[in-house]
Amino acid sequence: MIKHPIKQGKSPQEGFKNILSKHKRENSELIPLLQEVQERLGYISQEAVGQVADHLKLSASEVFGVATFFSQFRFTKPGRHTIKVCLGTACHVRGGARILDFVQDELQVKPGGTTEDGRFSLERIACFGCCALAPVVVVDDKVYGKMTPFKAMKILNKYD
Ligand code: FES
Repeated sequence: MIKHPIKQGKSPQEGFKNILSKHKRENSELIPLLQEVQERLGYISQEAVGQVADHLKLSASEVFGVATFFSQFRFTKPGRHTIKVCLGTACHVRGGARILDFVQDELQVKPGGTTEDGRFSLERIACFGCCALAPVVVVDDKVYGKMTPFKAMKILNKYD
């Protein structure tokens, strides 16, 4: 569950201050700091990069450079729904890549991105642990198995 500082009755500035105050001004704190920011906001905003850089006395480009090295970090605001397409071995063998291509084309977004209307964020993942249902797509917490492009289209239309 994403804890947004504004929804907790705090301004983004206060939210950042709270996060920063828990971390020493040491470079080894960079990853834990970024993880906490992402947990709170759902992504690493430009403002957050600047705040983290100031706190650790690094440049924003140094912080951004490290953050982009790790695939766990996202830099766009999450959509109202997250659609995850599995490309683990079982799903890949059963056409996972075709499903991902279809979803990308339908939503006009790449993995790691959010649709322009803010409806969906798209992610690809390695395995959900329900390989018998391959190929698998998960929207928010709901698992959809034995996916086809036609089924995917119907599923996408269910979410506002
Ligand atoms: S490979 Fe997709 S659920 Fe396991």
